Formats: sequence, structure tokens, C-alpha cells
Amino acid sequence: MKKIIKNGTIVTASDTYQADVLIENGVITQIGKNLTLNDTEVVDATGHYVFPGGVDPHTHLEMPFGGTVTKDDFETGTIAAAFGGTTTIIDFCLTNKGEPLKDAIETWHAKSSEKAVIDYGFHLMIGEVNDAVLAELPSVIDNEGITSFKVFMAYKNVLQADDETLFQTLIAAKELGALVMVHAENGDVIDHLVKKALKEGNTDPIYHALTRPPEIEGEATERAATFTGLANSQLYVVHVTCAEAVSKIAEARDNGIDIWGETCPQYLMLDQTYLERENFEGAKYVWSPPLREKWNQDVLWTALKTGQLHTIGSDQCSFDFVGQKDLGKGDFSKIPNGGPMIEDRVSILFSEGVTKGRISLNQFVDITSTRAAKLFGLYPRKGTIAVGADADIVIFDPMIERTISVDTHHMAVDYNAFEGMKITGEPVSVLSRGEFVVRDKRFVGKLGAGQYIKRAKYGENYRTDNRTYTI
Ligand code: URP
Ligand code: ZN
Ligand code: ZN
Repeated sequence: MKKIIKNGTIVTASDTYQADVLIENGVITQIGKNLTLNDTEVVDATGHYVFPGGVDPHTHLEMPFGGTVTKDDFETGTIAAAFGGTTTIIDFCLTNKGEPLKDAIETWHAKSSEKAVIDYGFHLMIGEVNDAVLAELPSVIDNEGITSFKVFMAYKNVLQADDETLFQTLIAAKELGALVMVHAENGDVIDHLVKKALKEGNTDPIYHALTRPPEIEGEATERAATFTGLANSQLYVVHVTCAEAVSKIAEARDNGIDIWGETCPQYLMLDQTYLERENFEGAKYVWSPPLREKWNQDVLWTALKTGQLHTIGSDQCSFDFVGQKDLGKGDFSKIPNGGPMIEDRVSILFSEGVTKGRISLNQFVDITSTRAAKLFGLYPRKGTIAVGADADIVIFDPMIERTISVDTHHMAVDYNAFEGMKITGEPVSVLSRGEFVVRDKRFVGKLGAGQYIKRAKYGENYRTDNRTYTI
């Protein structure tokens, strides 16, 4: 069925204007004033913004980690994402050393294909580089459409790769047209500090933050940026938390290095004192890198506004407080790292960013959708409202006030890290390729309707079949 979204205010990364949007076969085919067409469903968006669906470039759904598996899978995770105004996610596919990359990718397809309600892609973790890995990478890019590789500089003896691996990955990525992503913390130094803290009897959740100081995030960011410059490659630093890392990214950009930075809602809104909460409640806020001293929040907002940071990922990596986080009672290093953020990512950025005047409305769209679509080979199919783009659309009420709570969220996890936070603005209806997934705040989507997206190479636009695109 064709649809016209009428009377809304369209907002893209560059423009804000009133117009109607015609959707045919899941694609935007016309944008204009007073559009009419026979046999077309009219969706009234009076008083609402019409945003491109959010693109969340950083999720961990049904991922084994910290001795357990993340609570939200591709069903609950993508439903929650849709309620939150996100219509595309890119999830991290973990690999195992010595095993073919294609096996890991198959595992991730098996987790997602019958469950996802919105479109999705994968980043591929690189834990080692050898002849077998190098032989597989061209196919990963050309056949699987996975055009971003993730290297962990932390989580020693678990996910961490060494510097040689990072450097080799950067070189291969340059040659093949992929973007390298790093978790930038110095895992070796952390390992030492953790052992020391435990030996001294310091076992509470706050020691998670105290054993991962911001200096070692800055150091790892600078190291990764230096390697990127040497390899003449491209780098995306995930979950930036602090002034030390922001300044290294800014410095590298000033030196002409192709480097991009992401932060997350939790670092913009919460601070290190949350880890001091009593009755082990601090464990709810244990993720890596850790929450920082509050003053860093202003640094992150300013960096988003001035273009030193570019995107916002959720780093959705949810674990129940009861039964999962409590694996670390008596030993903070055993608390599974991660938190539930997929649902509140867009709304928090709107409420705290736009309504509080920290970023403009168009910057909000850029940061939550367009920029990630561009960096990760989805644009202009995703990340904008334009003729030829997928009709991934959020109809957003900018006036509504609400309180975030575990009682009303759609994630499977038993707490919300932003519990009790009052925010303004909410997605009312969300469409994925022209079909409602959320309609008037009710889920109407279908499990498995989300499509796996093979992404374009780094720096290339996504073009498909014979569509005409206007961007
Ligand atoms: O604590 C976190 N962030 N868990 C997810 C894995 C990662 O480092 O992104
Ligand atoms: Zn990470
Ligand atoms: Zn992550």
C-alpha cells in the first residue's frame, strides 16, 4: 500500500521544512507540498517532526560476554530500538582466533535473521591477522557487505588484540575499503591495576572505574590515531568518554588523519558517582570505558556541537541486575560489562541536546542517523529523507514529556540506567521501508521483517538497483 505522510516538518541533517512524503514499495518517491494520490493511505503528522530513522552503529545483541550472554537479543533489542526511533543497527560480530571468519558471520546471521524487526548490518571483530584472515577479508567486504572491522585494545586475554594486529588491520582496511573501529583503552595497564586493586581487597563496583583511568583511554586513542596516520588508513573510535580522548581525536584530525569519534548517551548523562551506589546497585553502571567525572559531559557535548565527535552509538550490551550483574558480587572484575541503551539513545539526544540548546535540530539528525549512515556505507539508502531513500521514518512528538523507566521500556533487561529521568519528546510512529513497526506507540512490526544490509565500502555511497536518488 502506498502511503503519504502529510503535514509534518521534515528534518534532515541539512534542512528543516514542511512537506508531504510519498512512499511506494518501501521507498520515498516524492516529497512536496499537498501531495495527493488515489489508493494511498494518508498518515497525518501535523505538529510532529518527520526524521530519518536513527542509525545505531554500536550494538551487542545476544553476545556472549563476561561469562554470560547479553539479555537483549535481535528480537527484544530491535523492537526496543524501533520504539526509540532507530530503524537500522550495526551489531558487532565476534570472531574466535583460529576459526574462519565466515563461521562467525554465519553464527550472527543465525541469531538475527528470523528475529530482527528493523534492518541491520554487522561489523566484524578482528582478533588476529594471519594469512587465513587476510585471504578471507576481500570476501567479507565484497560478498558479505561487512565494511567495518573492530579491534579491541582492551579486555586482556579475552577480546584484546595486540598493536601489530591493529596496525595490520589498518593496512588491510585501507587497501580493501573498510573502516577500522577501536575500543581504545590500554588493556595491559588495566589488567595490572585490576589485579592490584583486588589484592588490596578493593572489590566494589567503583573500582571498575578507578582501575580504568581516563589517561589510558587517551593513551590508546593517541596510539590508534598514530598507527592510522602511519598506515594512511581510516579510524572510528567507539564510545569516547573523556577529555583525554577527545583532545587526541581533535589533534589527529588537525594533523589530517582520517579519524572519527563516537560517544554514547550514558557518557553524556551519567557520571562515575553512579558506581558508588549502595547495595551493589553500582554494578548496573559498570561498562567500559567507565563513567567519568561529571565535568567530562560538557566536553563531550561541546565536541558533538563543534564536530570533534560525530556520532552517538548506544553500545547496547544489556545484562540483568539480578542473575547477571551479580556474578561480580565480591569481585568487581567479574561484573559483566555493559548497559541497556538502545531504546533511549535518540530521545536522550533530542531532549538533552536539542531542547536544552546544546546542538541544533539538524545536528541531532546528523549525529543520530546521517553521519553513521555515511561512515558505514548505508547512505543515501539510509540516514536521510530524500527521493530514492528507504522509507525509514520516525514521526516524532517534540512536546510530550515523559519519564524513562524500566516499567515502560521495551528492552528485556530488568533495569533502566536512566530510571526516573524526565525527558521531552518521543517517537510516536516508526516505519521501516514503508511499513509501520511502531504505530501510535504500539508495536505492529513482524519478527524477521528486518533485512540484513550489505554495506558499501568506506567512502562510497550506497546505491541499489535502478532507483533514482536525490541527495
Ligand atoms: O562495557 C561495554 N562497553 N560492553 C560492550 C563491549 C564493548 O566494549 O563495547
Ligand atoms: Zn568497547
Ligand atoms: Zn560496545
